[in-house]
This record gives sequence, structure tokens and C-alpha cells, in this order.
Amino acid sequence: MIITPPVYLDYNATTPVAPEVAEAMAAALQECYGNPSSSYLLGQEAAKRVADARQSVASLIGANAENLIFTGCATEANNLALLGSAHASGHEKRHLVISAIEHPSVMAPARHLEAQGWTLTIVPVDETGRVSPEAIVDAVRPETVLVSVMLANNEVGTLQPIADIAKRLRGNGVLLHTDAAQAVGKVTVDVDALGVDLLTVAGHKFQASKGIGALYVRKGTPVQQILFGASHESGLRPGTENVPAIIGLGVAAELAAQRLAQKGSVLRDRRDQLHGLLSAAVPGLQLNGHLEKRLPNTLNVSFPRISGQVLLAAASDAVMASVGSACHAGESGPSGVLGAMGLNMERALGAVRLSVGWETHSNDIERAAYALANVWQRLDCSHF
Ligand SMILES: Cc1ncc(COP(=O)(O)O)c(C=O)c1O
Repeated sequence: MIITPPVYLDYNATTPVAPEVAEAMAAALQECYGNPSSSYLLGQEAAKRVADARQSVASLIGANAENLIFTGCATEANNLALLGSAHASGHEKRHLVISAIEHPSVMAPARHLEAQGWTLTIVPVDETGRVSPEAIVDAVRPETVLVSVMLANNEVGTLQPIADIAKRLRGNGVLLHTDAAQAVGKVTVDVDALGVDLLTVAGHKFQASKGIGALYVRKGTPVQQILFGASHESGLRPGTENVPAIIGLGVAAELAAQRLAQKGSVLRDRRDQLHGLLSAAVPGLQLNGHLEKRLPNTLNVSFPRISGQVLLAAASDAVMASVGSACHAGESGPSGVLGAMGLNMERALGAVRLSVGWETHSNDIERAAYALANVWQRLDCSHF
């Protein structure tokens, strides 16, 4: 008997490492073990590979390589952006602005600063998960140091009007950070088109390994280190570079650039196929997030009269997905993001996040949709 594994529809939680990335990393682990700070050939080879990877990742986001800092993850990059720019700002200006649906790796350092006497303004989002650029600008005060608004939301995929926010903030001395952990590799990201000063990258969201991220820091942006040690990464992130993971990130960035250029509509096609099949089979299914201004791979839908958690548990032999952010898995109660969007309790509890990847096939989508619809029909009304 052939047992078919469940369809993986949780690419926003993490992605499989691309075979090309795994191969490059395995070779690096074996052969490229020199310390990039060492002056002999083995060290300098590692340094060269790190420099090449920096260039590849920088190219993917339209940045100069010298403005990219490798970090251990997106969480660290977000902490460096918020705490590093706060520490660099001196004592007079102590206000920051974030949106209501930021990832905990932005929300928690912002709350940490608040506990240290900073003032924090949390700007609400509308029912599609979008912040209004006007509301962001209205929240800014003379003592504002930083605005941090994510580029794409991890749960509903809504894309934020970052370029518009940047345009309105220009010239008033406020730094703009965007957490692009979910956007890089799925949509075109360009630091100049966005007009941001700081931008976060997460390797494992686009087929690099876990344990590697990056922070783009526009030239001249005042940021202080938050870890103390030697002078790696332009003095902003001490610690011997994770050479294999950095090399893997470089390969993943090149793959992402190719895919975005050559088969940009694949993610959207699969996602919309899934939406179409589910809508036809589940009357009353509701889309959460913005219909158009949304990551092409993300479908967050509320099933009527059922809890998303119960649905996914019952369908677990056919589909691997989650009801929201992987960071909150295991927590009961509706997602904070859906709450901030003003969804009622039944709709928030019925939500399921389905996120596709480059290797999701059309027949995977059919199988997943069939399983979810069948389980919903079987459980409808009986398990809320
Ligand atoms: C929007 C966003 N920011 C930051 C992170 C943090 O990434 P990591 O856990 O790899 O540090 C995630 C991960 O889910 C995310 O979705």
C-alpha cells in the first residue's frame, strides 16, 4: 500500500530547504570550514563566499551588499532594527510607532522599550489588515525615532503601503523599518522603491535554512549594536559568521530572483485554485485579509460554524496547515491579528491559514481542497 504524505500548506511557517541550497550548504560544511576573519587561504575563501552571498541577497532586495548585515534569524534582525536604532537615538527622542499586527519579534522589543520609558503608539489596521498611511503620519511626533510596519502579514498575507508611508515620512527625520520576513522571495522587494531605512529578511521563509536572516541598513542610518563582541558585520553583529547558512542564503536568493522573474504567477495560480475549490465546496467560506494587496501564496479563510483548529486536526492525515502564526501554535483562542482586524469571534475561530510554495502542484491543491471540504461537511455544526 502506498501512503501519500499530507500536503504541506504551511509555507508561511517555514519552507523546505531547496535542494540547490542543501547541496551548497553540505559542500560548505565539508570544505569551507575556515574562519572568514583568518588571513590564510582557507579563511579568505570563506570570506569570499560570504561576500558573494551578501551580494546575491542584496541584489534580491535592490540593496548594496555593504548595507546588509547577516543575523541569526529575522527575530534578531527585528530586535537589532528596533533596539539598535533606539539606542542610537540618544535620550531626547523616545517615541516609536508600530502597527497593531506586527509579529512578536517587533511587538516584544517595542514593548520592552515601552517598559524602559519609551512611548509606544500602536496604529490600528482596517478589516483587511491594512494600516492607513495617514494614521501612521498622524501618530508621528517631534520625538518619534522609528516607525516599524511589516511589509506582509504572516497570517493573512496583507501587504502594507510601505512606499506611501515612506513618501509621507520623508524629510522629517523619522526612521522607517519594515519586517519583510514574509515578503522576500514571494514578491519583488526593492529597498529604494519602498524607501525604507531598515528591512528584515528571513532565510527559512524562502528555502534557505533556519538560523540565518539579514537586516538591510541604509547607509548613514544610526543603529547601534545590541550584541557586544568583535567587529563582524560592520560592527553591528559580532560573532563568527555562519558560513554554510550564509552561502545557502545566497543560493536561495538567486533561486528566488529567478523564480520571481520566470514564473511569478505560479504561487498566485495555486492559491487561487485552492480558494476557488474551497469556495465552491463550502458555502459561506470567508476570505480574511486583502483580496488583492496580499502575498500571492497566502489564503486565510474562515470556515463557517466550525473551529479552524478542529478542522485541521480532523484533516491532519491529508493537510499540514495552521490556524495562524506558528509562533502561537498551541495557544488557544483566536489570533490577535484577526482580532485587530475586527473579525467577530466565530469568524476568527473558524480561520485557517493555507500557504503554498513554489513546489505545490495543482494535484496537491485538489487533494487538500477535497480533504478540507469533506472534513468540514462531516463536522459542520457538530464541533464548535
Ligand atoms: C513576519 C515575520 N517576522 C518575523 C518572523 C521571525 O522569524 P524567525 O522566527 O525566523 O526569527 C516571522 C516568522 O514567522 C514572521 O512571519
